[in-house]
Amino acid sequence: MRLAVTGREGQVAASLVEAARGRDDVEVVAVGRPALDLARPDTVLAALEAARPDLIVSAAAYTAVDQAEDEKDLAFAVNATGAGKVAQAAARLGVPVIHLSTDYVFDGAKDSAYVETDPTAPLGVYGASKLAGEEAVAAANPRHLILRTAWVYSPFGRNFVKTMLRLAADRDEISVVADQWGNPTSALDIAEAILHAAPKLVDDSNFAAFGIYHLAGEGDTNWSGFARHILDTSRAFGGPHAKVRDIATSDYPTKTRRPQNSRLLTEKFASTFREIPEWQRSAEAVVRRLLPG
Ligand SMILES: NC(=O)c1ccc[n+]([C@@H]2O[C@H](COP(=O)([O-])OP(=O)(O)OC[C@H]3O[C@@H](n4cnc5c(N)ncnc54)[C@H](OP(=O)(O)O)[C@@H]3O)[C@@H](O)[C@H]2O)c1
Repeated sequence: MRLAVTGREGQVAASLVEAARGRDDVEVVAVGRPALDLARPDTVLAALEAARPDLIVSAAAYTAVDQAEDEKDLAFAVNATGAGKVAQAAARLGVPVIHLSTDYVFDGAKDSAYVETDPTAPLGVYGASKLAGEEAVAAANPRHLILRTAWVYSPFGRNFVKTMLRLAADRDEISVVADQWGNPTSALDIAEAILHAAPKLVDDSNFAAFGIYHLAGEGDTNWSGFARHILDTSRAFGGPHAKVRDIATSDYPTKTRRPQNSRLLTEKFASTFREIPEWQRSAEAVVRRLLPG
């Protein structure tokens, strides 16, 4: 089975490429700029067709959450129109598409974890553009999985785990918001989940469970709890450590509001495909990989 994933250096794309390495049942081809540029819709079909995929994973996105407030047109071009073009290309090639979306489609006002059918109400441009992307993907290709994930980190790209380890190397104390709750998710787990689900979509002609799924690390925490776990793990394996000081969102103003509660319930994915590992174990594995030696 051959998967084409959009985005060359992205966390999910790089994790998928790594997860497929050394397996003889699956090959992953990463397709990115300049050949495939989601802001240039005319590039999408030809670039994906050249990869001759059995399934397309749509992981590339405009992910700069705050910057999106100033670049609304670009965020929508990439995350909505571009995502729709990827799903349309998959339909033209006769293959299913797995599209990555986000917890930021919710406003965070719910007091328990979100299920797939909860009403969406994005707080900012990024969330709104990703929600428009979900709609475009669903409209373009009935054979879709839309996987909403959250708080993604990995050994690749830029992410919160890397930031904490970098800051701890030259500070004694780091202030981290303690009133936003969610599910830290390893891109390595996302990649494994996709590789597990893919054969069902490609080979099982009776598979009918297309639609939206929440796919995020098992268990929840807030950003400061996540930071503490990263730094405690780092110290245990000889890496940098710093004290984490809890602060409120109001002490750390950002251009766009984040949902206070973006916890995602993942029961639907777990019962249809497979369980997702506990976030703590997955975070430990990534921290250990990022430490020297
Ligand atoms: N990161 C998170 O915390 C998070 C949370 C929830 C959902 N998600 C979703 O999960 C998916 C994967 O996220 P990630 O963390 O892997 O993203 P990432 O590391 O930020 O990577 C984004 C990728 O998209 C590519 N890209 C951006 N604009 C593009 C364009 N115009 N044309 C083609 N490629 C373009 C980038 O390409 P270059 O390498 O060329 O820059 C990069 O490879 C995304 O759909 C994201 O919205 C992420």
